[in-house]
Amino acid sequence: MLRDVIDCLACPVCGEPLAERGGALACVLRHSFDVARQGYVNLLPGDASPGTADTPAMIEARATFLGRGHFSAIADAVAEAAAEALADGAPGCIVEIGAGTGYYLAAALDRLPERAGLALDISKAAAKRAAHAHERIGAVVCDAWERLPVRDGAAALVLDVFAPRNAAEFARILSPGGALVVVTPTQRHLEEIVGPLGMIAVDAEKDRRVAEQLGGAFELTGSVAVEERMTLGRDALMAVAGMGPSAWHAGEDLSARVDALPLPQEVTLSVLVSAYRPVGR
Ligand SMILES: C[S@@+](CC[C@H](N)C(=O)[O-])C[C@H]1O[C@@H](n2cnc3c(N)ncnc32)[C@H](O)[C@@H]1O
Ligand SMILES: [Zn+2]
Repeated sequence: MLRDVIDCLACPVCGEPLAERGGALACVLRHSFDVARQGYVNLLPGDASPGTADTPAMIEARATFLGRGHFSAIADAVAEAAAEALADGAPGCIVEIGAGTGYYLAAALDRLPERAGLALDISKAAAKRAAHAHERIGAVVCDAWERLPVRDGAAALVLDVFAPRNAAEFARILSPGGALVVVTPTQRHLEEIVGPLGMIAVDAEKDRRVAEQLGGAFELTGSVAVEERMTLGRDALMAVAGMGPSAWHAGEDLSARVDALPLPQEVTLSVLVSAYRPVGR
């Protein structure tokens, strides 16, 4: 619930703390943001455009695919990395950036019963889902490339799973002793279906770009490879293709593309779960 994370939130206009006031969150300067019926709050400035937000159909597909447990090995590794990173008891909540349906944040919270979780995403459809993914999640719509509506040092842990990486903001919101856990795909991830289903491939420069994005602000403290083979039937293949940006151009012929594959199809899951600490802390 939003109540669990309200102490972590900052007004997106002036940066002051937010408090519950009626059905809204408001700061001392009376900037006020209605809590949506579905339990999330939109802290985007009024004129912001959704841009890269996942559509309701993509979020639906993601919920279907993740709900079947095909990526549960990633969730287990994220929860493990979260527990390890928080073993020293850094104060604060767990913030997931580009949280989507809140699947990974919920897994971390199951493992860490003392913590509350803040799911941030620019997609309202995502925030609606994430708000109900776990009883200790509060969900907020915001843009990860702008100043986050989170108070300085309010987060013990930042989670980032296939989502935008804004290193300066991550460092600002982390508390002393806090950590960052990032999940990135390797080039083998989903390699059997990327071509046939018109999905966007992981580029060869990915590792270098991630290192560059985080480099000045964070140092790597550990990394675990998660790799296994999934056996995916028609529905799972439709869902995994539909939850990614490929849905924007594969469009109508996705169904025909899936039917052209040998079913069920063996598909590789291959990601790195990496933990970082802010430099010089
Ligand atoms: C590939 S999905 C990953 C979702 C989730 N982490 C998961 O793995 O299930 C990327 C997510 O980032 C969100 N997103 C894209 N651009 C964003 C931005 N500028 N600020 C916040 N979220 C963003 C999308 O709406 C989407 O939910
Ligand atoms: Zn304000």
